[in-house]
Amino acid sequence: MREEILRKVAEEFGTPVYVYFEDVIRERARRVRETFEGLNLFPTFAVKANNNPNLIKILKEEGFGVDVVTKGELLASKIAGVPPESVVWNGNGKSREDMDFFLQEGVKIVNVDSFEEMEIWREKGARVEFFVRVNPEVDAKTHPHISTGLKRHKFGIPVEDVDRFLAEYRDLNIRGFHVHIGSQITQTSPFLQAYESVVRLSERYGFDEVNIGGGWGVNYKGEELDLEEYGKKVTSLLSGFKRIIVEIGRFIVAPAGFLVLRVLYVKRRREKNFVVVDGGMNVLIRPALYSAYHRIFVLGKRGTDMVADVVGPLCESGDVLALERELPSVEPGDLLVVENAGAYGYAMASNYNSSPRPPEVLVTPNGEARLIRRRESEVDLFKDVIV
Ligand code: LLP
Repeated sequence: MREEILRKVAEEFGTPVYVYFEDVIRERARRVRETFEGLNLFPTFAVKANNNPNLIKILKEEGFGVDVVTKGELLASKIAGVPPESVVWNGNGKSREDMDFFLQEGVKIVNVDSFEEMEIWREKGARVEFFVRVNPEVDAKTHPHISTGLKRHKFGIPVEDVDRFLAEYRDLNIRGFHVHIGSQITQTSPFLQAYESVVRLSERYGFDEVNIGGGWGVNYKGEELDLEEYGKKVTSLLSGFKRIIVEIGRFIVAPAGFLVLRVLYVKRRREKNFVVVDGGMNVLIRPALYSAYHRIFVLGKRGTDMVADVVGPLCESGDVLALERELPSVEPGDLLVVENAGAYGYAMASNYNSSPRPPEVLVTPNGEARLIRRRESEVDLFKDVIV
């Protein structure tokens, strides 16, 4: 059924194309809420994972607010109809101008990242709810580039500076702590360590609200977070809080999204085979950037008849989607599907080699496919150029 839809979408809208399934997004959103059953949860969707307002709107319907970092992500949420009270503003580099803008827009919840940032909020006399991002010195056991909870990482305030911070900014409306130790975390223990650290701190300062960030890992290669175990342990650990904010991105949208590409060439070499498809690191940079593994299948074909690198059409050797992958016998014209592409896929796509970004299509629960972002054109690429 899904395969049929993917084929139809590719034929109608061309390739490469991102395709999202609404039923998966809703089901994953519900699983987030169920995991915290019994607690007062304020779930937010991390817009950095996917900024299409149509997806954000679905999450809004599921009772989610948003976690945003930039004015762009705030605009995406606004287009989706998310009210400013449901926005959490994150980031280690908030500019003064952006602070004014977010205040004007009516955003009320801010995760503050440093002493230096808090100085400016004080100067502005901002009347918002602050959550102080602490860096708990916990190893998230994930890829170094998406790990954030160690002192050598740029985020937050080290636990040992928290006393000084709270003494200094007692006059500001600090509601609790924020912790986020990284992304694509597949074990419960790093989360628990981080949360235990904020529970201890919260007890010490009498805070009854907390923001535990995101980071839930999905099944790219067989390994995934055991949500049942996580849920049991975390709900009992956090049961004393009156409000718990979470910021989940990947877990909700990664498995809802597929990237469909067309095979251009199959280069069979003595040493190696290459399957050349019509999009590479420009459409999905995760394999090139993090050596990330994404499962790939070929529409209408099964089996493992060849081993090949799946590569894009761009002019560098790093332009890969998969290395040494077992595939059925692939031919030019076949459609190749990359799984778990709904998070940090389109959001990180680029115009490298002056390639326009692909379109996005949303499939409703009754199987109807709707274009939710047009393919960029070459003309779009140069609309800001001054000659
Ligand atoms: N909260 C904060 C403060 C974050 O920095 C992030 C992600 C999230 C929540 C959402 O995390 P998630 O639930 O999606 O794991 N581009 C990388 C991922 C970078 C994650 C950045 N921060 C990738 O493609 O793997």
